[in-house]
Amino acid sequence: MCGIVGYIGKNARAYDVLIDGLKRLEYRGYDSAGVCLVGEHVTKTFRSVGKVAALEEKIGESDACAKAGIAHTRWATHGKPCMKNAHPHSSGKIHLVHNGIIENYQQLKDELTQKGYRFTSDTDSEVVAHLIAEENTTADFEEAVYNALSRIRGAYALVICHEDEPEKMIAVRNSSPLVLGIAEDAYILASDASAIVQHTNRVIYLDDGELVIVTPEKHKITNLRGKTKRKKEHALEWTEDEAQKEGHEHFMHKEIHEQPRAVEDAVRGRMMIDEGLARLGGLREVEDRLRAMKRIVIVSCGTSYCAGLVGEYMLEEYAGIPTEVEYASEFRYRKPLIDDCTAVIAISQSGETADTLAAIREAKNKGGLTLGIVNAVGSTIARETDAGVYNHAGPEIGVASTKAFTSQLAILALLTVYLGRQRNMSMTMGRRILTELKRIPQKIQHLCDDEKKYQRIAQKYAKYNSMFYLGRKYNFPIAMEGALKIKEIAYIHAEGYASGEMKHGPIALIDKNFPSVIIAPKDSVYDKTLSAIEEVIARSGRVIAITTKGTKEVERIADDVIYIPKTVEMLTPLLSVVPLQFLGYYAGVEKGYDVDKPRNLAKSVTVE
Ligand code: AGP
Repeated sequence: MCGIVGYIGKNARAYDVLIDGLKRLEYRGYDSAGVCLVGEHVTKTFRSVGKVAALEEKIGESDACAKAGIAHTRWATHGKPCMKNAHPHSSGKIHLVHNGIIENYQQLKDELTQKGYRFTSDTDSEVVAHLIAEENTTADFEEAVYNALSRIRGAYALVICHEDEPEKMIAVRNSSPLVLGIAEDAYILASDASAIVQHTNRVIYLDDGELVIVTPEKHKITNLRGKTKRKKEHALEWTEDEAQKEGHEHFMHKEIHEQPRAVEDAVRGRMMIDEGLARLGGLREVEDRLRAMKRIVIVSCGTSYCAGLVGEYMLEEYAGIPTEVEYASEFRYRKPLIDDCTAVIAISQSGETADTLAAIREAKNKGGLTLGIVNAVGSTIARETDAGVYNHAGPEIGVASTKAFTSQLAILALLTVYLGRQRNMSMTMGRRILTELKRIPQKIQHLCDDEKKYQRIAQKYAKYNSMFYLGRKYNFPIAMEGALKIKEIAYIHAEGYASGEMKHGPIALIDKNFPSVIIAPKDSVYDKTLSAIEEVIARSGRVIAITTKGTKEVERIADDVIYIPKTVEMLTPLLSVVPLQFLGYYAGVEKGYDVDKPRNLAKSVTVE
């Protein structure tokens, strides 16, 4: 899950576009960075360990005048984060950047070593450079690339250039994302559109097995055997501003505050409240198949998995469809029983998570109807599923998913009404859920306005090393999500647990140094959750309670209380999660961590 950029143009300095592009892709990985500037007479490569800023220091003005180049920001998979493993990788006059994993690299490496090629890194990517150089001894640049590609297996997005042909760049995609940006007088290639949007909104999304040859004047797209393909151009919705922080200290903070708009955009034009119906255009083609579905299996990872768990409660209780939720990384290796009456729903913010993509491909092989709830427009999961719904939450840059999560829940609520009304849900119930859903953005805004309170509570509890997050029914998944947030942002070991499970073991951990966040809205299981609070307090455990405005009992017994506005039970997760996002955020800020780029994590996990 590296970030790659390529630029070839008539006027602008490649250096400026490449460095700016790398900074926008840095959330994909920041183990090392590098750039290769291909000038008419000289080609220069610069690499550095760590963030792009370190690379900038290495490049002088005089070096930065080339009009073509490639660049890379790394998330280590093969070969540890260090200088020799930094991209670009070269072989003779061939230079390339790679995102993905070459599965048969060792066998190719042995073969090339036999032929006298000397490897300077531990990466799989360097193999491709030597392979192209080897092919280039008997074929021209383009043919050498095609020949080399026919030998490699695995996931790759590559951008390749040749010192003798500074007016040409070749890029190819197989499983790892690659977008072509078409500007006035130049072409930009990048892992995603956030490195392109400030130059042009005209883009072509490359599909698996597609290669593009670009010169400053034109581009040609072919399959891996050189057969020309026609590709549809798309207009990017995003403005440059959206990608910037707009005055917030961190993208995560900005994205938490964007949730009222994100939920609004998720339901915009999709609710026919009077009829109690949801309109999901992306499902139109499969409407009849959906009506016949007997079972739903949701596959996803991380925060998207927690969203799936909330969806399970909604779909079973209000649409009456048996629903299971699977970790995508497990789903693909156990023998899932999928038939043509099973709808398999992939939930993914990035639309590129390798495990979720593979789970969808597995479900497809088994004849399941595959659907996507995806935020990244044009991403692989969005294009490979039979149908789906876009979140429209806009770009999510902070590694910790926040607005994508609440918009996923809004989409799941819409899907519940959509499928429920195809079955036994009454118009009245449909109308009630949609009416409440329409009020959610404003209720989230009220919660965001209270952030100072969450900041105080976070500062009070940031010193603890372990915490429990407890919830029941719709808010059990929110306990898991709240725990995930404080784990990934403040590195506090927190466990999300079904509050009814505590007495079967975990309660043994409770003492005055092991606080618990307990989500206890005034819902159908409120009394049960209240007794869980009392059980924890009885063992001197400290309690932060999340409950519905006006619920006084909790205030009498809990150490700290956060109130959420009233709403229908199935929608409480869209509210109760917001204070938990702030708790995680402010605990991370309190501890001085880089909350947008937590250690060991990356925004889009494109390898197994
Ligand atoms: C959540 O904050 C994390 N970034 C991570 O768990 C994420 O939810 C997971 O990797 C799934 O990503 P996706 O939604 O892009 O598929």
